[in-house]
Amino acid sequence: MEKRILVLGANGQIGTVLCKALVKRYGKQNVILSDIREPKEQISQFEIIDVCDKAHIAKVIDQFQINTIYHLAAILSGNGEKNPALTWKINHDATVQLFDLCVEKKIQTIFYPSSIAIYGSKTPKINTPQYTSFNPSTVYGISKLTGEMWSAYYHSRYGLDVRSIRYPGVIGWQSIPEGGTTDYAVEIYHGAIKEKYYNCFLRANTRLPMIYMDDVIRATIQLMEAPSENLTVRTSYNLASMSFTPEELYESIKQFIPEFKIEYKPDFRQQIADSWNESIDDSNAQRDWGWKPEFDLQSMTADMIKHLS
Ligand SMILES: NC(=O)c1ccc[n+]([C@@H]2O[C@H](COP(=O)([O-])OP(=O)(O)OC[C@H]3O[C@@H](n4cnc5c(N)ncnc54)[C@H](O)[C@@H]3O)[C@@H](O)[C@H]2O)c1
Repeated sequence: MEKRILVLGANGQIGTVLCKALVKRYGKQNVILSDIREPKEQISQFEIIDVCDKAHIAKVIDQFQINTIYHLAAILSGNGEKNPALTWKINHDATVQLFDLCVEKKIQTIFYPSSIAIYGSKTPKINTPQYTSFNPSTVYGISKLTGEMWSAYYHSRYGLDVRSIRYPGVIGWQSIPEGGTTDYAVEIYHGAIKEKYYNCFLRANTRLPMIYMDDVIRATIQLMEAPSENLTVRTSYNLASMSFTPEELYESIKQFIPEFKIEYKPDFRQQIADSWNESIDDSNAQRDWGWKPEFDLQSMTADMIKHLS
C-alpha cells in the first residue's frame, strides 16, 4: 500500500531535514507536514496542528487517508526544565493520546523518537547496553522513557506498529537547534565560521554520543521501512555513531580554521550532560535493520564547514 504520511512537529531541527527526505522519497502528494509554527519554507502541504489537539489530528488523518505518522513534536531537554508541566503535557500526554488515536484510525506505522536523555547516573556510561537501568534526571528524559514504555505496551496490547530510535545529539548545518543539551555541537561551527570564537556551555571534557544529520535521516527511514517481523526492540533502539568532547570537536574544527578560539563557561546544561552516557551499544539496530553510520568526527566537520562556509 502507498504510504500516506503525516509529520507532527515538522519544523524543528530534525523535521526540517527529514521532511525534505520524505517528500523526495514518497512524493509531495503523499506527505502532509504540520507544526504549531509556520514553516520557513513550504516544501509540501502544511497545516498548523497542535499535537495536543486530538480532534484536529483525527480530521487530518481522515481527510488525507493518512496511514503513517512521524511524531516529532516535543519540548527538548534544556527548555523542558523551564516548564516541566507543559513538557509533560506535550511530550507525554499528547503522545499517549496520539497512540490511542492511531489504534482507532488503524494507522499502519508510527515513528516516535526517544533520546539518550533516558539514561541516567546509574546507567553504564560506556557502551550502554540496550536493556539496562534507566534513571533520567530531566522531565524530558522521564517523558521519553515513559513514551518508550507506552510504545511497547501499545504494540503488545493493540498490535500498534510504533518504531523508535534513541537519538544521540544531532548535528546538522541546516538549522540552529534550540533548547537541547547537545546544541553546542552545532553552535560551535557557526561560532568558528562567523566569529572565529565560541563560548561553550559544557566543560571541555564532557563526552557525549552524537550523530550527523545525514545518518539520522538514513537511520529513521531505514527503520521505518524494515519488515515489522525483523524488529525485536519495541521500546526504542539504541543507536550509535560517534562520541566526542567539546575539546575534541574544537580540535577537529581547528584543522580547518586555525585561528578559531574557544572558552568554556558551563551553565545548567552541564548537570544534564553529566547524567548522560558516553557511548552506546547498538548491536540490536545493526542486527535487526542493518544500521551502520557513515560519518565520523572528521568527515562530519569537513561536511559542516563545506556547507556553512
Ligand atoms: N535534536 C536532537 O539532538 C534530538 C536528540 C534526541 C531526540 N530528539 C527528538 O527528536 C524529535 C525532533 O527533535 P528536534 O531536534 O527537531 O526538536 P525541535 O525542538 O527542533 O523541534 C520540535 C518541533 O516540535 C514543534 N512543537 C512543539 N510543541 C508542539 C505542539 N504542541 N504541537 C505541535 N508541534 C509542536 C516545535 O514547534 C518544533 O518545530 C523530538 O521528539 C526530540 O525529542 C532530538
